[in-house]
Amino acid sequence: MDNEKRPKPEKIPTHVAIIMDGNGRWALARGLPRIAGHRAGTENLRRVLEGCGELGIKYLTLYAFSTENWGRPAEEVRGLMSILEDVIDSELEELHQEGVQLRHIGLLDQLEPRLREKVKYAVELTKNNDRLILNIAFNYGGRDEIVHAIRHMIRDGVKAEEVTDELVSRYLFTSGVPDPDLVIRTSGELRISNFLIWQAAYAEWYFTPVYWPDFDKDELRKAVEEYSTRERRYGLVSAQVS
Ligand code: FPP
Repeated sequence: MDNEKRPKPEKIPTHVAIIMDGNGRWALARGLPRIAGHRAGTENLRRVLEGCGELGIKYLTLYAFSTENWGRPAEEVRGLMSILEDVIDSELEELHQEGVQLRHIGLLDQLEPRLREKVKYAVELTKNNDRLILNIAFNYGGRDEIVHAIRHMIRDGVKAEEVTDELVSRYLFTSGVPDPDLVIRTSGELRISNFLIWQAAYAEWYFTPVYWPDFDKDELRKAVEEYSTRERRYGLVSAQVS
């Protein structure tokens, strides 16, 4: 990327999270089945990962399958499961070589045992990598995550007065990962859709009409440039943060 155009390093978000929306409409516009849109969206991951590397983004979280997505037609659910399996089979070695740490956020219990084991293997294999931390939200829901955290705190005997923001964060699937600075949603939809509802409390949001399969490096750079112009006040006033 042209150095003059690159936002200053301190203006680069540490953690970018993306709701990869619009695969179905991308496919429909081409007279293709919805799953072809998901496949095209999967091919786009490479471009976006490269873009993250070039921009110096350290954490990327992708919303690949929500707890609500189980309600989609069975064929589409099967297709999304097999996409995750194919990605692990075909990309894991290269991602590992490139220093990408794969993490999973969500619950693995409902996945087929073979897929579950592959996800666990990928997480274990890459756990010491630190060039880019890639969180895959798969069978993930923000409310589900909070319920899961509360249950664990109760099981651990946490006392009411011990419950703090920090403690809750530690019980979430994203424990140890900084909150997202920038959340991107493609395809023109303006909703949170149960994504990182705790973690994104002070994230900057970026919405674009571009469908996910067309959201390339240039689109990522535009989102980061827009982010770099924002003033993050965290409830304070401008004079306090500048
Ligand atoms: C939303 O588009 C997209 C999804 C529910 C699935 C996203 C999954 C991928 C891109 C596959 C990549 C997965 C891995 C393993 C990281 P939509 O189907 O709701 O689109 P629409 O709103 O146009 O119908």
